[in-house]
Amino acid sequence: MRYEKGQYRSFIDCSLAEKLLFTGYLLLTGIAYLMAMYYLYTSHQGHDGKPGDSIEDIVETYYGNRSGTKLEAAIRGPMAAYIEIEDRHVIVEWLKKDAPKEDYPSKIQPILAKTCLQCHSPSSGLKIPDLSNYSGIRKVAKVDTGESLHTLVKLSHIHLFGIGLVLFILGSIFKLTVLPGWLKYPLIVIPFFAVFVDILSWFLTKWDPVYAYTVVVAGAFLGISLGAQIMISLYQIWFLRPELIVSEKVTKPVIKNKNSIVKTYQVVIGICLVASFLVSITVVKLTPRQKENQRLEKIKNILSVVQLYDENTDVDAIYRQNIFKQWVELETGQIVYDNVSQLEKRSFEQLAKSSEYGESLPSAVDIANIKRQPKFMPVYYVLDSTHKCNSF
Ligand code: HEC
Repeated sequence: MRYEKGQYRSFIDCSLAEKLLFTGYLLLTGIAYLMAMYYLYTSHQGHDGKPGDSIEDIVETYYGNRSGTKLEAAIRGPMAAYIEIEDRHVIVEWLKKDAPKEDYPSKIQPILAKTCLQCHSPSSGLKIPDLSNYSGIRKVAKVDTGESLHTLVKLSHIHLFGIGLVLFILGSIFKLTVLPGWLKYPLIVIPFFAVFVDILSWFLTKWDPVYAYTVVVAGAFLGISLGAQIMISLYQIWFLRPELIVSEKVTKPVIKNKNSIVKTYQVVIGICLVASFLVSITVVKLTPRQKENQRLEKIKNILSVVQLYDENTDVDAIYRQNIFKQWVELETGQIVYDNVSQLEKRSFEQLAKSSEYGESLPSAVDIANIKRQPKFMPVYYVLDSTHKCNSF
């Protein structure tokens, strides 16, 4: 069957006024899309301190940086010299309880008054966080959990309404193209689907940072399909000649042609498979990286406690040269030689919970209300240059 003029509406049937109208809208939308991309690039950039957009930036935007508060990072790192170990412990415990206000005057304020306030109060004239009152310290005592759910809901409903309308207008123009159905129908459906998946994965990223990759993949699908809609439409508006259309595969009304429905489904399913494949590959690739980051974070904490941490050098190397780790059974004080790999595999919480490696604490001694504690703990020795044990 040939496409004949008037069989169904295509750009050939459009008046010059319509063609100009469509062209104007397509060009503006294309430019708007490019600007949106540029804006995204520059506004996410710098969250992680690196130029350009990266998965880490997306994770920081939606998931946040939950490894601790600024205050905890400060007293373990750059401010460690101004605080005693017991005091630091008190502050860290307070932060774990989400910095309750009622404990501030009795427990926290006296510690800060010892040294911190010499610098961290308005009278010092320094442009650093003011820690002389609760609201000041609250700012550095919040765990960063990324954009709030409230903000995400606000952003997503604006996005869904706005983008939905843009996609509808674009699609209404694009439907006038003369294309085989297996290509045309997916190109109309994919942008809607991609926007939905993109916004869904903002929320999923809040829950698990792995979904930052879905944000990227869905964004890529949206970009590609919008680009194709705009380019193909613009081309056919101005360069399509009726006499050139002799293909049998041109779009026919859907009901009359079951074949193209089947093909449409095939293409859509194929694209979904490719997308889920991409996402699962990235998930598999990201997990080891997360583990590695956690490991490095732990090493950094250990090094900053003994003031060997220097962000410009390889923490792994400093750790290997200076720190020696052994596991000790808490009850007896004996060094553990067997089963060390079993202990290494587990986090403190896992150790405490397990029946073999943890024990429950009688409530009389459980002042911190931790319920269970591990039976074994690691001890870190700091070695000096002759590899003799110096302190621990
Ligand atoms: C000798 C002055 C001085 C003392 C004492 C001091 N600080 Fe600081 N603190 C600074 C300066 C300067 C900065 C800013 C450093 C920077 O931004 O790199 C800072 C930054 C901080 C920050 C912000 C870190 C960030 O990521 O924004 C926190 C939190 C902090 N200090 C907590 C403390 C605490 C708690 C104490 C007491 C245990 C303390 N400081 C003692 C000078 C001091």
